[in-house]
Amino acid sequence: RRGRPLTVEERQGCIGMTPNAMGVVGNRRSTEDFEFGEVLGEGSYSTVTHVTTVHPPYRQYALKVLDKEHIKRERKTKYVLIERDTLKALDGHPGIVKLWWTFQDEWSLYYVLEFAENGELLKWIKKYGSFDLRSARYYLAQILSAVGFMHDKGVIHRDLKPENILLDRNMRVKVTDFGTAKLLKKEEMADGHPLDDPMGRPRTRSFVGTPEYVSPEILSEGRESSFSSDFWALGCVLFQMLAGRPPFQARTEYLMFQKIINLQYEFPLGFPADAKDLVEKLLVVDPKARLGGDPANGNGIEQVKNHPFFTSHIAPSSSPPVSPTRT
Ligand code: ADE
Repeated sequence: RRGRPLTVEERQGCIGMTPNAMGVVGNRRSTEDFEFGEVLGEGSYSTVTHVTTVHPPYRQYALKVLDKEHIKRERKTKYVLIERDTLKALDGHPGIVKLWWTFQDEWSLYYVLEFAENGELLKWIKKYGSFDLRSARYYLAQILSAVGFMHDKGVIHRDLKPENILLDRNMRVKVTDFGTAKLLKKEEMADGHPLDDPMGRPRTRSFVGTPEYVSPEILSEGRESSFSSDFWALGCVLFQMLAGRPPFQARTEYLMFQKIINLQYEFPLGFPADAKDLVEKLLVVDPKARLGGDPANGNGIEQVKNHPFFTSHIAPSSSPPVSPTRT
């Protein structure tokens, strides 16, 4: 066929149809539905770009582009499918980034994600140095709600950290990056432990999670991650919001691992007492002894939600709570 290239509508066979409220026409998505903007983030085999639909009402999305060749070469197919499947399974919670559509071409897989306008929680911790108690409680409560929902659906995130906690235009939490998540099967749900090796052979596990927030059981040989691993990360995130730095830091990854498994961290002066108590109950080396970590005690999230950190009185502060800046 010669002449001008087909328009999106012609190619998709939906001439004359008007774009819907999502700013797209027809059922099939392609890169031609979007105008590409700035790069929001880069991973080892993917890039997230801000995109706007070419049709009114010009909706904004975050488009994750995954390089097929690289994924095949590095044998990461399993992880990109896990990310897609967990996001689909988690559709409907306001605290989890929505996966609108997926599509592919010869070179790439494309995940069209909800756009979180205010970016990473990390950016805001850095901007303010640290958060006051009221703000830390506000964000942790929303993160907990999202984590409770995913655990209910059998998903362990395994890489919760302030880079993966995004904020929308109203500073509401949107948890993202399920590329290292684990989706438990029904029969695994009861005890919160994956069963993918019924013979008990040691599994060859590639390291999952970011060193700074990774739980001791994931670091030590032969231990499996469970819902409790996410509670450890929550303890790290709460510590970081209030202290302005993660609890475990070191010059090398090895030294950081040592600190984590030996629980070597210190609270800065003035760290609020209720928050300190909650962090101390989450940063517990034995995953079953961690607050919310023992499946025998029912839904772990409820135990965390019931901690006095969420109900104790906060004296009125002279500084304003963290609020969105409009530009
Ligand atoms: N960075 C990575 N994913 C993003 C998203 N969905 N919205 C905004 N920034 C992001």
